[in-house]
Amino acid sequence: MDLSISIKKTLQVKTYLDKDVRHKDVAKLLDAAHFAPSSGNIQNWRFIIVRSKETKEKIARASLDQLWMQEAPVLIIVCSDNSNIKSLYPKKWKKYSRENCAAATQNLILQATNLGLSSCWVRSFSTLRLKNILNTPDNVSVEAVITIGYSSERPKETRHKLEELTFFEAYDARRRNVSVFPLAKHLPKSISQN
Ligand SMILES: Cc1cc2nc3c(=O)[nH]c(=O)nc-3n(C[C@H](O)[C@H](O)[C@H](O)COP(=O)(O)O)c2cc1C
Repeated sequence: MDLSISIKKTLQVKTYLDKDVRHKDVAKLLDAAHFAPSSGNIQNWRFIIVRSKETKEKIARASLDQLWMQEAPVLIIVCSDNSNIKSLYPKKWKKYSRENCAAATQNLILQATNLGLSSCWVRSFSTLRLKNILNTPDNVSVEAVITIGYSSERPKETRHKLEELTFFEAYDARRRNVSVFPLAKHLPKSISQN
């Protein structure tokens, strides 16, 4: 799939079909995730694959009762092993570890779309409850839960117009650059939504 199309189709999906996800495809998701960039190439991300009905239900309850999550056949939990990053960046490790895991998460959900899967990035959860459910050691933080599965849901995209988000040379400089906007003139018809 063309990358621009994958990006625009990667919308958050919360209803899943009763169809399993092959382990081969889960492996492709993790492969994409671990190719993300990371500060100092520390690669602090760790992944937990959850398929058990019982554990999925516990995770959904610990995620502020987002019970729809348990319908996804697979949950992938992105964790950060903070032992090395703490010694490399004693002051900034928290920020960097989170940003590295966010980059991995984005790679993962893009690859999901590319494989015809749907996903949702979930961050509203009780960290303490998830740590207990997943048995993570003290040096490991839970950064994201990603629901993965097949879906017939076709969510609508709700992005602001790029023209309203972009400035030239300095923040809030509203001067329009006519050679850039409207953006649609630079894009093929199939992806020119902005
Ligand atoms: C860091 C982060 C945390 C999120 N946490 C949740 C969450 O806990 N539950 C949920 O349903 N969606 C969550 N989302 C998904 C957002 O709600 C979603 O991306 C946003 O509403 C835009 O929807 P769209 O991507 O489908 O257009 C999260 C997204 C991000 C990036």
